[in-house]
Amino acid sequence: MLAFLLVVGVSYYAVATSLIGLVGDYLFTDRRAQDQTGAEKLAVEVAPLYADARMEQLQSLLIKAGGELGGRLMVLDGSGKVQADSYSQLNGTRVELPEVASILLDGKTVDYGVHQLGGRRSLSVLSLLTPLDTGAEWAGYCTVALTEQGKTIGVLLFSSPIQDMMQRLVSLQNRMALYFVAAAVVAMAIALVISRVITKPIATLTRGIQRMGRGDLSVRVPVKGSGELRKLSETFNVMSQKLELLDKSRNQFVSNASHELKTPLATMKILLENIIYQPDMDTDVRTDFLSDINREINRLNLIISDLLTLVSMDSKTMRLNRETFKFADVIADVVHRLSVVAEKRRQEIKLQIGDSCEMYADCAKLTQVVTNILDNAIKYTPEGGLIRVRLIRSGRDAILSVADNGPGIPKDDQPHIFDRFYRVDKARGRDTGGTGLGLSIVNQLVLMHGGTVSVQSEEGHGSTFTVELPIHQG
Ligand SMILES: Nc1ncnc2c1ncn2[C@@H]1O[C@H](COP(=O)(O)OP(=O)(O)OP(=O)(O)O)[C@@H](O)[C@H]1O
Ligand SMILES: [Mg+2]
Repeated sequence: MLAFLLVVGVSYYAVATSLIGLVGDYLFTDRRAQDQTGAEKLAVEVAPLYADARMEQLQSLLIKAGGELGGRLMVLDGSGKVQADSYSQLNGTRVELPEVASILLDGKTVDYGVHQLGGRRSLSVLSLLTPLDTGAEWAGYCTVALTEQGKTIGVLLFSSPIQDMMQRLVSLQNRMALYFVAAAVVAMAIALVISRVITKPIATLTRGIQRMGRGDLSVRVPVKGSGELRKLSETFNVMSQKLELLDKSRNQFVSNASHELKTPLATMKILLENIIYQPDMDTDVRTDFLSDINREINRLNLIISDLLTLVSMDSKTMRLNRETFKFADVIADVVHRLSVVAEKRRQEIKLQIGDSCEMYADCAKLTQVVTNILDNAIKYTPEGGLIRVRLIRSGRDAILSVADNGPGIPKDDQPHIFDRFYRVDKARGRDTGGTGLGLSIVNQLVLMHGGTVSVQSEEGHGSTFTVELPIHQG
């Protein structure tokens, strides 16, 4: 701001002084030319009168011409002494002026000079602008040589008051100073407005960032104006929104996880209390209770290992241990392992392998993917149901589909079943022991392999889960 004013001030000062100088020069040259021609003409008439010592005639000529030219006229002799004065005051006195000396000693025929006759220093601001003494009396001295037959016999001195001219210069200075103050005020006001306009959004943004730094993620800044600042505000808002969402989902995750862990603990507590407070409990009932407790511990174990899997996937510490294997073998293994459960529920699993799909991937993780999907199909399909598992190859992709004829998934729930802890029927989920983590793990593992997982389902008509995985042969 200060620098800006300084620049404006300095450039204005430069313009003002050169302008005043220019006007001053013009006025001076004009006046000087006038005075000189007047004096030179007069000198021609004066010279013979002075040479012949016709002093009375000379005196009246000086008075007359002085009136016409508007100044004082004097005739000096070869030594600079006044011989005639239109004011009749200085006769006989010696005039010591450089303009006189230049004629008498240096042999010039005409000379001009401006002199200050005394006065007081002005107090106006203008004196700062140019060193002009405004209150002083100013006079212009024009000297012309009086010659007779080529010899200088004296000097004609014309003293013309140039006060009016100086006054004009001073008033010009005054006006310039006034304009300067006005321009400075206007420039300052404009600079202030501009800096406000530019710095305000930056200040708001800074406050926003500071608030965010203190942990308030709900902060948003107004998006105003155009250009880079607008983009910056928008980016800031998008960033803070994402951070807020992340923060919310993390809190949600922690509360969901604690809730899921509390349920089996509460069940175990009740069972244990029963055993403690009924020492004479029937052995069979006691064994039942203990095996229930054992089941809950297993469930806790499962939930915790699922949570650990998710956390390690989140923190990106999980890596793929790629190896070459046949995806068809993995699927056959899982089907074989789970068919025991399916048989208990009198369900039929039909396995159809179109291609062995040799691939370069993480075998253990894909085993988990197939297990989670097939486990769901068995868990949610009623007794006596049919589950079809199919593997085909399409170009560079292996496509696995698991279709059941179970209850299906409502359209509204379909976009959420891959979310953590999401269960379509919360009560049913608990009965069957689901936590709602299985499909979110599937989704993450498939994504890590660069594949996709999707569901097609209609309520009452079963569900089909499809996994597409790039083969990546090593
Ligand atoms: N084949 C299916 N048929 C009907 N509903 C299904 C099927 N597969 C998944 N779902 C629904 O999607 C929800 C989410 O499945 P997910 O596997 O993520 O969790 P879960 O099976 O409840 O628990 P977990 O797998 O962690 O033990 C399930 O609770 C269930 O409501
Ligand atoms: Mg599941």
